[in-house]
Amino acid sequence: MARLRLYQPDDAAHLADIFVEAVRGIGPSDYTTEQVEAWAAGVTAERFAALACDGRRVWVALDAADRPCAFIDLEDDGHIDFLYCRPAHAGTGTAAALYAVLEAHARESGLARLYTEASEAARRFFLKRGFAVVQRRDFPVRGVMIHNYAMEKRLS
Ligand SMILES: CC(C)(COP(=O)(O)OP(=O)(O)OC[C@H]1O[C@@H](n2cnc3c(N)ncnc32)[C@H](O)[C@@H]1OP(=O)(O)O)[C@@H](O)C(=O)NCCC(=O)NCCS
Repeated sequence: MARLRLYQPDDAAHLADIFVEAVRGIGPSDYTTEQVEAWAAGVTAERFAALACDGRRVWVALDAADRPCAFIDLEDDGHIDFLYCRPAHAGTGTAAALYAVLEAHARESGLARLYTEASEAARRFFLKRGFAVVQRRDFPVRGVMIHNYAMEKRLS
């Protein structure tokens, strides 16, 4: 089982790398090449370094070599912005373990609701963890139409 810990500043480049690997490796099951490339574009270590310092909490899973292989985040209002897993670690329970830590923290913090905008893969993942789809969202990313799902889970 992957070891989990909170984000550290050195992780930023790994997070950008995991994001692109996950989108390119797992995204094509549900999205076109054009959609996948639009989704993966423009992600940088600098962006993750900035996001990780904006007050959100980020948990990182480490592989056997202690290299980051997946991550999840939680904003103060219950929003989950990111859940990304390297394809080699998909289906191993790594993302599930990250989510379990997040939900436990959210409950301890007294959050009444978790919510996210989920890709097709994430929709399947979150449905199994008690989330409901609020609505499908169709929107352009870098000029390419793509879709995801607004989802939420009541904790109280
Ligand atoms: C979304 C994403 C993180 C989900 O990852 P995942 O591979 O489904 O998650 P896990 O590795 O935790 O897999 C869970 C499955 O692993 C299996 N599994 C294997 N070993 C396990 C273990 N020891 N413990 C728990 N589950 C285990 C279970 O069968 C579980 O299946 P379930 O979902 O039916 O319960 C992944 O698909 C991804 O990175 N996608 C691309 C990026 C993306 O779309 N991100 C979301 C943007 S909104």
